[in-house]
Amino acid sequence: VDEPLDELIAGLTVDIPDHPEPGVVFRDLTPVFADGRAFRRMIDGLAAPGASDPRAAALAGPAPHPPGDPGFDVVVGVEARGFLLAAAVALDAGVGVVLVRKAGKLPRERVSADYALEYGTATLELHTDAIRPGQRVLIVDDVLATGGTLGAAIALVEQLGGVVAAVSVVVELAALAGRQRLAPHTVHALWTT
Ligand code: PRP
Ligand code: ADE
Repeated sequence: VDEPLDELIAGLTVDIPDHPEPGVVFRDLTPVFADGRAFRRMIDGLAAPGASDPRAAALAGPAPHPPGDPGFDVVVGVEARGFLLAAAVALDAGVGVVLVRKAGKLPRERVSADYALEYGTATLELHTDAIRPGQRVLIVDDVLATGGTLGAAIALVEQLGGVVAAVSVVVELAALAGRQRLAPHTVHALWTT
């Protein structure tokens, strides 16, 4: 019988104290990505709230969703680690994947949001035609720390009229209160620590 998914992820994650700056315990998830069985279960878990989140279910009509409706129309991934997750979730669900990128990478008309994360500040961007009004969006990333990054991603999606069906992360660092910051959006975390 399979071990619980949170234990599987926790067992493969490597903590690095004082990286990239003093006081930060960096959670390195690359060994989770590199383990085929863990990667499979992680991708399945990230897609799950599209179907189970009441908000997403309400958007998709009477629950359960019609066969074949994952509960979202597109998956947004946040550069860089979020890209790996978003692509796999989207492919499985049979929907497209949209990139939220760090500033200066997207070539066409775009919206931008400045934000702070646990170790610095940055700007995220999204092509204005990447999300159509009313589209149900699943946003995925690997780590929810302060919520600065995902808060900016949500703001960009909503600025274009997208409806955030759910936010899914692999690990939530509860002490940094990102979940509270993203309210009223519900966060689905595979492991909370
Ligand atoms: C990391 C992580 C999240 C973000 C979480 O990304 O992948 O996107 O930080 O932190 P927050 O909740 O405090 O905003 P990072 O910006 O380091 O980029 P990377 O994926 O390119 O390594
Ligand atoms: N992103 C923000 N904080 C992080 C942390 N502690 N570990 C890994 N990624 C992060």
